[in-house]
Amino acid sequence: MALLRIAVQSKGRLYEETMELLGEAGIKLSAVKRTLLVPARNFPVELLFLRDDDIPESVASGTADIGIVGLNEMLEKKKDAKIIRNLGFSKCRLSIAVPKNAEYKDTSWLNNRKIATSYPNILNEFLAKNDIKADIHIITGSVEIAPGIGLADAIFDIVSSGSTLISNNLEEVEKVIDSEAVLIGRNSRLSEEKQEILDELLFRIEAVKAAEDKKYILMNVPKDKLGDVLKVLPGIKSPTILPLADEQWCSVHTVLQEKYFWEIINRLKGAGAEGILVLDIEKMVL
Ligand code: PRP
Ligand code: ZN
Repeated sequence: MALLRIAVQSKGRLYEETMELLGEAGIKLSAVKRTLLVPARNFPVELLFLRDDDIPESVASGTADIGIVGLNEMLEKKKDAKIIRNLGFSKCRLSIAVPKNAEYKDTSWLNNRKIATSYPNILNEFLAKNDIKADIHIITGSVEIAPGIGLADAIFDIVSSGSTLISNNLEEVEKVIDSEAVLIGRNSRLSEEKQEILDELLFRIEAVKAAEDKKYILMNVPKDKLGDVLKVLPGIKSPTILPLADEQWCSVHTVLQEKYFWEIINRLKGAGAEGILVLDIEKMVL
């Protein structure tokens, strides 16, 4: 029986949320301790734990069948692999930052400066597009300390919360790309068996993603107010309406985007809804 091998980050930014997604997709690992290669207990996949930098290459070379990695690594490494699906977590951006006191006005400030980064390819493209000649210093870790110790004038690095920049007295001046976790695969075909496993995995990811930010809402509505309440729930094709023991009342069930719920809660109450319950949805198959 073939196992679909998934390259995932062994620790760091993506690790937690990758494991959470796989967990929500019903995939349980066989080992508690993380070794390099861990099969799942209840689904024909095995996880290959790697540094994020190595994931695009592992997929391109066929060491892994698919991978979960930041778009930033995927764009930087330019390997022979394709993006199968954006995953919507581990959102961050790749930005240029300069010391707070730099009096940066526009990209021309960067001319003839030294910029420290772990992403030389993406930076090079940005500089070329903006007609800037700068000196790129490749550093693999702790890029943010480079300006402070006189190693560079600016940095080009991942910014997420921005706290790394703040604690190093740096200011974000150019956002170059937005990044998030992506599911990648190789360009050549998978075996039929592995493709079937991937299709099942994608189906499960779809169900997890569809349920995200959605709530299941139940409310009691006097029957003579039902029309008013339904008017507040537009866009919902057909809410479920159930009878209650009290024949004057019914129960209305529907699925809503959470932020939309907050917008209409007062109108629902105004229209006569009572006993409104909001429940989490774990999965949704559309
Ligand atoms: C990145 C980046 C910064 C930090 C920014 O490192 O190099 O150090 O995250 O995040 P913040 O804006 O929330 O402070 P990461 O933790 O991804 O480790 P890595 O560079 O070793 O991959
Ligand atoms: Zn990294």
